[in-house]
Order: sequence, then C-alpha cells, then structure tokens
Amino acid sequence: MIPVPSRQTVSGKVMSVRSPEHVAIIMDGNGRWAKARGLPRSIGHRRGVEAVREAVRTAGALGIRYLTLFAFSSENWSRPAEEVGELMGLLKLFIRRDLADLHKEGVRVRVIGARNNLSPDIRSLLEEAENLTRNNTSTNLVIAFNYGARDEVTRAMQRIGEKIVLGELEPKALTAELIDAHMDTAGIPDPDLIIRTSGELRLSNFLLWQAAYSEFVFMPCLWPDFDRKAFEEALKDFASRERRFGSVSSCEIAS
Ligand code: IPE
Ligand code: IPE
Ligand code: MG
Repeated sequence: MIPVPSRQTVSGKVMSVRSPEHVAIIMDGNGRWAKARGLPRSIGHRRGVEAVREAVRTAGALGIRYLTLFAFSSENWSRPAEEVGELMGLLKLFIRRDLADLHKEGVRVRVIGARNNLSPDIRSLLEEAENLTRNNTSTNLVIAFNYGARDEVTRAMQRIGEKIVLGELEPKALTAELIDAHMDTAGIPDPDLIIRTSGELRLSNFLLWQAAYSEFVFMPCLWPDFDRKAFEEALKDFASRERRFGSVSSCEIAS
C-alpha cells in the first residue's frame, strides 16, 4: 500500500531522505550483451546470473530490505524452446548452488508468479528455497519467475470470486487492502523504486498493481554489466526525487 512519504528540508530544499525499502529490477539485456560480443544468448544469461549475485550482495550491504528480481515473465514462454530450457536450467542451478549461501547470509527467499505450469522439479526447488529461508530476517529476495502482472491479478480475482460465491466475502467488503492480500506479493511492501536495464522504457507486465507510486529509473546498461556502481547510481537518482503521492510539496503545506 502507499507509504507515508518522509521528507527533510536541507537548506530550504525538499529532499527525500528515505533510501528505498523495496527495489524491484527488470533485468533486461542479456541477449544484446551476448550479441555485442558475438556470443550465443545463453552466455548472456549465464553472465546475468553473476549480476544477480552481485545485486543481492549490494542490496544486503546497503540495507535494502526487499529486492525483487524479474527473472522470467509469463510471456517469455514464447521464446525458442532451447532458450526457455536454458533459463529454466539456470534457475535450478542458481537455487542449487546459491541457496545454502543465501541462507547463511540470512536472506529470505520468496517467489512470485504462477506455479501450476512449472515442472515438478522446479516447483519443489522453489518451495525448498522458501521453506528453508522462511524465518530469515536480513534481505528479502523476491524472485519473479513465471510472473506476469495480469496473470497475478487474474489469479487473485479468481480466488476472491470463489470466496464471494461461497458466501465468505461480501462484494462490498472488497477493498484495495483485500486485493493486496490476494496478490502473490501479499505482505511485501510496494516497490519504492523500479529499475530497468537495457534502455527499454516499458514495464513488460511487471508489478502493474504494486507500481502505482513507484519511482522509475531506466538505465542504458545491459543487465550483465549492472554492478554495485550502477546500483548506487540508480539509488542516487531515487534520492533526488520528491515523492508526493498525490499531495503537494511538504514545504507548501508548511507555508
Ligand atoms: C533479460 O534479457 C532476461 C530475460 C528476459 C529472461 P533478455 O533475454 O530479454 O535480453 P535482450 O532484451 O534480448 O537483450
Ligand atoms: C522483461 O524483459 C522480462 C524479464 C526481464 C524477465 P523482456 O525482454 O521479456 O521484455 P520485452 O519483450 O522486451 O518487453
Ligand atoms: Mg529483453
């Protein structure tokens, strides 16, 4: 839901003093990174996993409480079967290789997206990652896998509709908070900042409901090149924004 903005006046200038609690990243550009080097797209995806590791480390080091990474969209199934297989394999490898380390670091893993059309081995790996790290309290790593915002909203509406039909819920009792509670992201604060790499200026069906008041940073760098410096650059950009949430500047309220 929409947080209360926190601001501070420094030399008469309204500043956003908050560093983001939740950063969500559309990790784009693996294919172009590989193409620019005459390499197959699969190599770009493998290098992309390295950038994921660095982003999780950076988020932890900078005290970002929630990091959501868009890893595979509900539309990415339309890619050639070989590439889809490669991306599924990389997710499995990432969880098998990195889960123990993430757990040791106190990272809590959550996965958003549809599960019903994933293979049983992937489903059980995702459940293992969530169950093992359930009580961890450092960074929350949210992996958006097989995720599409319209699909998420549709599934939430189906669950709400079932409750109405069963008489468990009055249509009039339906609120934005209740819709929130039926989303895959239930319990996770809305993203303060959404970063997209690779220069594309679109959301590609990512967090449409939750992004209502997010700040956006679009960066030209391709995902495998996204390092701590790039992450800090995006945070600096975020820090210069004044979030008004439909209100007016706090200095105008004061005057
Ligand atoms: C992002 O890189 C990774 C996924 C979408 C899975 P792309 O594979 O989309 O790379 P480009 O956009 O083709 O360069
Ligand atoms: C968005 O990237 C999905 C992920 C980063 C997982 P795409 O590369 O799939 O998006 P479009 O097709 O350029 O919009
Ligand atoms: Mg892309």
